[in-house]
Amino acid sequence: MNDLSQNDLERKMITVASGKGGVGKTWISTTLAHTLSRMGRKVLLFDGDIGLANIDIQLGLMPARDLGGVISGHYDLSSAITPYDDPMNSTGKLDVLAGKSGSGSLGTLGREKLGSIRAGLTALAANYDHVILDLAAGVDASVNTLSAHKGTTVVVLTPDPTSLTDAYAFIKLSLMRDRNADIKVLVNMASSKREAEKTYQALNKATEGFLKFTVPYLGMIKRDKFVQESIRHQKSILVRYPQSEAASEMMDIARQFPSRRKAMAG
Ligand SMILES: Nc1ncnc2c1ncn2[C@@H]1O[C@H](COP(=O)(O)OP(=O)(O)OP(=O)(O)O)[C@@H](O)[C@H]1O
Ligand SMILES: [Mg+2]
Repeated sequence: MNDLSQNDLERKMITVASGKGGVGKTWISTTLAHTLSRMGRKVLLFDGDIGLANIDIQLGLMPARDLGGVISGHYDLSSAITPYDDPMNSTGKLDVLAGKSGSGSLGTLGREKLGSIRAGLTALAANYDHVILDLAAGVDASVNTLSAHKGTTVVVLTPDPTSLTDAYAFIKLSLMRDRNADIKVLVNMASSKREAEKTYQALNKATEGFLKFTVPYLGMIKRDKFVQESIRHQKSILVRYPQSEAASEMMDIARQFPSRRKAMAG
């Protein structure tokens, strides 16, 4: 046992969310988790968008156990963990809680089940530096329950204008739930650094104007064919194309997440 408070545990949570689907949440969660683990951190990656069971496919995992078994009561959350074996990583660790392909979305689960998954994840956080949650797009019951924590919510958007309005709506709803929510913005699939910054500024102008909220900029990832290539090969980009621009841009983003290990010593 350790003496971390509930808040200390919750601060380890990083939710990756978006208003619009298909903006790169799963790739970002997976690659951020892998990058942080390569920095020596212990990371738990949770597939909270189980309709498609994306994370295990992107990492080329064949999980023997998954969230489906947890939901149907066959085993608990901690027994559903699949370690991601990375021979290049000797100090950090990446564990995956896989979704279950074709089992329907988490959004259809009742409050009680969602609440117990949330409580299970918070308890598991005691063993990790970061718990990264890849959630469904939009704000269904699963997103609402699982992103209600004292950690960070990374809102992903692309330069596509519909993605901007959806990101704005997502931030508005998040602030209605918690005015002090730690929300940060990541622009994905930009054609240039400048385009990403302009996208961020347009969003921030709207949140400042209408919500009186300045949203911090976490950074950007350009559209990079090596992202698609590594997904196609079911390999982490850090394994397949470690020299790619997208891998180095993710490194810049990962460096902004402080290690929580100090808190663990407390
Ligand atoms: N930086 C990038 N450069 C190029 N392609 C990208 C990039 N990020 C994501 N993609 C492409 O976008 C596709 C969708 O990514 P991903 O599945 O991660 O999105 P998502 O937000 O999780 O989608 P969903 O809402 O369906 O869960 C990927 O298959 C990949 O081909
Ligand atoms: Mg996804």
